[in-house]
Amino acid sequence: MKKAGITNNKPSHNFYGKRLGRKLRNRQREYLEVDLRQRNILNFLGKTPEGTKRLDLAKAFPGKTAVWLEIGFGSGEHLIHQAKVNPDVGLIGCEVYLNGVASLLGKLREEDLDNILLYQDDIRSLFPYIPDQAIERVFVLYPDPWPKKKHHRRRFVTPEHLMPLARIMKPGARLRIATDISDYARQTVEQLNLNPNFEWEAETPSDWKLSWKDWQTTRYEKKALLNNRTPIYLTFRRV
Ligand SMILES: C[S@@+](CC[C@H](N)C(=O)[O-])C[C@H]1O[C@@H](n2cnc3c(N)ncnc32)[C@H](O)[C@@H]1O
Repeated sequence: MKKAGITNNKPSHNFYGKRLGRKLRNRQREYLEVDLRQRNILNFLGKTPEGTKRLDLAKAFPGKTAVWLEIGFGSGEHLIHQAKVNPDVGLIGCEVYLNGVASLLGKLREEDLDNILLYQDDIRSLFPYIPDQAIERVFVLYPDPWPKKKHHRRRFVTPEHLMPLARIMKPGARLRIATDISDYARQTVEQLNLNPNFEWEAETPSDWKLSWKDWQTTRYEKKALLNNRTPIYLTFRRV
């Protein structure tokens, strides 16, 4: 199908996850053709005086006091929840998986939310367009686990992602990462500790064992709990 309203000259990246699952129903195709066009964050792509392409986030989210970003929102339960409880915040949701984006767009038809814009593709192609220090909170919830050792470098928590994240996050901004894979949590803490731009906020075990106060469980977390895997909640501060 045509690429859901997104036209830009994106740098190409190897993406190893799934872009499409079950065949999309006509209704879902319509969400992707029509609704996604309206909620496309790239509608707010402009040029800086130096000629660099950058998102104009003040135009994208007029009157909002902060901008947050959720990477890999799946079906979007958490994104919608945060948008509802934080009407003064603008949220950018980024997801590669078309079926997930279609599912979120279906839910958005039932809601009256003016503070969610979307990017249906790989976050690595969006990073260059996000202005420096523009984002006050980032959510990476149950990133793809890549359990085999030889695939660990495909995990999100590598310098390839952490460097641009540090650039776009405001000092004092928070990065929240949830995972049900203890080795993933280990790699996350290790990588973030190696990076001078981030500080792990945990002081006691309850800080990674208990979910955040404003938490909304996700589809992936429900599956993890059903399979007796224990969630770990990590919060890092952009120094
Ligand atoms: C394991 S799923 C978790 C989904 C959701 N956060 C949840 O908890 O149910 C990970 C999601 O991250 C998305 N993803 C992986 N790499 C991505 C990338 N580079 N940019 C955007 N989304 C990505 C995948 O498509 C997938 O839907």
